[in-house]
Parts: sequence; C-alpha cells; structure tokens
Amino acid sequence: MNNNYKLIYEGKAKKVFSHNDEDKVIIEFKDDATAFNALKKAKFEGKGKLNCLISARIFEFLIENNIPTHFIELKNENTMIAKKIKVIPLEIVLRNTAYGSLCKQTTIKPGTILAKPLIDIYLKNDELNDPLITKDRIDLMNLISSNDLDLIINLTLKINTVLKSFFKNIKLQLVDFKLEFGYDFKNNILLGDEISPDNCRLWDLKQKNDTIVSLDKDRFRNDLGGLIEAYSEINRRINEFI
Ligand code: TMP
Ligand code: ASP
Repeated sequence: MNNNYKLIYEGKAKKVFSHNDEDKVIIEFKDDATAFNALKKAKFEGKGKLNCLISARIFEFLIENNIPTHFIELKNENTMIAKKIKVIPLEIVLRNTAYGSLCKQTTIKPGTILAKPLIDIYLKNDELNDPLITKDRIDLMNLISSNDLDLIINLTLKINTVLKSFFKNIKLQLVDFKLEFGYDFKNNILLGDEISPDNCRLWDLKQKNDTIVSLDKDRFRNDLGGLIEAYSEINRRINEFI
C-alpha cells in the first residue's frame, strides 16, 4: 500500500488505511486465514483478492436492494474504498440451517433446516473469545440503544431474505453468516466488514445426493482442503449470474 495512506487498524483478515477524504477508508483484504479465535492460522495465496471481489459484488447487490452498506467502490482486486464507520462491537450471526457452534452447544442435529432464521449475537472481543451475549447484557454494557439493536436485527433479517434467494439462484445454500454494523459520521447505521466465504457458510446445491459440500472457510476450519478452489467457484458463479 502506498505510503500516503496510514494504517488505522489491522484485523485478522483485513487492514484498514486512511483515505484523503476523511469520511472514507481503504480496506485491504489479506491472504491470512484464522479459525477458533486465531488458534489456527494459515495463508492462502489469492484469498484476499477473491474475498474482496466477492464482497464487492454482494455489497453492490445489497445496495441495489436498499440495504445501507459501507461499500463505495473497488480500488483494485484486493482493495476497496468504503465509508468510514465506527464499528459496533457486536457480531450478528443469522442461521438458516443448524451447523457449527449451534450444534456443539445444543442438541440440534447438523443440517437441520430451522423453521425460522435464528439470530445469535456475540460480543466482538478477542480477549473474551467473542462470547454469545444477551439483549439484557448489551443494555447493561450500554453498547447501543435497544432501538438501534432492533434496527440491526431487522436489517439482518432483510439481508438474509435478499441473500438467500441470491445464493439459491447460483445453486448455493446459505446456511449461516456473520455481519457487523457501524455508524457513519451522520450516525446512520451501515452494514460493514465483508460478505464472503470467510463469514458465510455456503453449501453446494449441485450435489446429487445429500452430502454436504462446503464452499466456505469450513474447508480450512475442518481441514477439508481446496479452499481457494471453493472460493474461486463462488466467485465464478456470482460473476456468471450478475
Ligand atoms: P459458528 O457456527 O462458528 O458460530 O459460525 C456461524 C457463522 O458465523 C459462520 O458462517 C461463520 C461465521 N463466523 C465468523 O464470521 N466469524 C467468527 O469469528 C465466527 C465464530 C463465526
Ligand atoms: N474469525 C474467527 C477467528 O479469527 C474464527 C472463525 O471464523 O471461525 O479465528
């Protein structure tokens, strides 16, 4: 990245740089992958580029569907320009199908289609290992108003409706996903972070039988191999569709 840009923040999968316009930031997607709060780490050449391109296409599609997001435009293949937001330290997970931590922490069987979307909220705090949190605890911590929390939950449900049918069109089952939101300088709530196979579970619907074929970061979490091939396939199907 050009020296004119100052590194503001470095996360596990992205770097955020300042922009000449102080209401904007530059987000660079890294090739690093982590799982289980960075207990497991690896690098996949080309992952940053694929996640940046996939996220950009999905943000554009969401904006067309009247979802407010931080995305402005791609700068190059692994960098995007976004609106600067003050990130709300919550991770909003929506689940359509039971998998992952839901099945480790409950008696629900993996692959169960949920009668209605389940929303699980986690505190975004690496030191505390991103614990599952309740509305009352959010209130107690004065993190956001209950009005804003309701707004975020409703936006998440709307995003699910839009993305579920988007992915179904390209023969992918949207199992679950994680979102992050923030406030822009006018205090509007915007969808932030990324939407990619790093933070969505996507299962291939082109399989003839019922076997689960994950085309997402579970390939790394569960040592399945073929992560770049899976992400490339998602990118290819999105580009064919749009
Ligand atoms: P989970 O089943 O491990 O709780 O994950 C649910 C969804 O959230 C899944 O699509 C992966 C995503 N996720 C993240 O994006 N970041 C995280 O730190 C975790 C734990 C999950
Ligand atoms: N994002 C988490 C980590 O940093 C884990 C995950 O996505 O499963 O390790």
